[in-house]
Amino acid sequence: MAYTSSTMGVPVAVEMPRHIAVIMDGNGRWATQRRLPRVAGHTKGVEAVRAMVEACARRNISYLTLFAFSSENWRRPTDEISFLMRLFVSVLEREIGKMHSNGIRLRVIGDLTKFEPRIQELVRGAEAKTANNQRMTLTIAANYGGRWDLTQAAYKLAEQAVAEKGMQSIGEADFSKYLAMAYAPEPDLFIRTGGEQRLSNFLLWQCAYTELYFTDIFWPDFDASALDLALDWYCQRERRFGRISAQLESEEKQISC
Ligand code: FPP
Repeated sequence: MAYTSSTMGVPVAVEMPRHIAVIMDGNGRWATQRRLPRVAGHTKGVEAVRAMVEACARRNISYLTLFAFSSENWRRPTDEISFLMRLFVSVLEREIGKMHSNGIRLRVIGDLTKFEPRIQELVRGAEAKTANNQRMTLTIAANYGGRWDLTQAAYKLAEQAVAEKGMQSIGEADFSKYLAMAYAPEPDLFIRTGGEQRLSNFLLWQCAYTELYFTDIFWPDFDASALDLALDWYCQRERRFGRISAQLESEEKQISC
C-alpha cells in the first residue's frame, strides 16, 4: 500500500497516530540514579519495550518503531555494546512467539551486515515468521542512522531508477521507495524520553511533518499512562502540513455537512 507523502500531498490527519516512533533514552541514567550498573537500565528498558508494544497494540496503533541501537552507538564501551547485543538476541529468541500469537509483524531496519551472522539469521527468521501478521507492525531500528538510510537509498536510486527512467524524470517518490521504512506511513508522533530534545540521526526523511514530543521520563519508567499523556498531547496538535488554520476549519465544516 502506498502512503501519502507529507510533502507531495496532505495526509489525512486522524485523532490517533497510525505510526509512533520512539527514541528510548535514559536507561543509563535510570540505573545510575539507583546506583546500579548502566546495563541494568537496558534490562529494565526491555520491560518497558514489552509494555509499550502491548499498550500500542491495545490502542490500535498500526506502526510502532523503536530506536534500539544507532549507527553511532558503536562508540560506547565494548562491554555495554556486547550486553546490548545479547539483550537483542534474547528479545528475538524469547518474545517472538508471543508477538506472533498477538498478530504483530516484526521488521528490523538498519545495516545488519555489521551484526554477527547468528543475529542476522534470527532477524530474518523472526521477520519471516511474522510477515503476514496485520494487527501492528513493530519495527526495531538496529545499527540504524538516518544518514545511512538516505545514503543507501541514494545508491539504489542511482543504480536502478536513474538507469531505468533517466535523471530528468526522477522525483521524490522514486527516491523514498528505497528508504528502509518504505513499507510504513511517515510517523505521526515521535516520542523521545530522557529529557534530550533532538532527533539523533533517527528517521530524518520520514519525520518531515511528524509531531515531536519530548518527556523527561527515563525510558524504563515510560509506561501506558505516560503513553496516554503523549497521545493526549498529540490530539491537541493542529496538523496543518503547510496550510493555514482557516483552511482546516473550512475542511472540517465540509466534512460535518
Ligand atoms: C538509550 O539510553 C538506550 C539505548 C541506546 C538502548 C535501548 C535499548 C533498550 C531499551 C533495550 C533493548 C531493546 C530492544 C528492542 C531489543 P542510554 O543508554 O543512552 O541512557 P542515558 O542517556 O541515560 O545514558
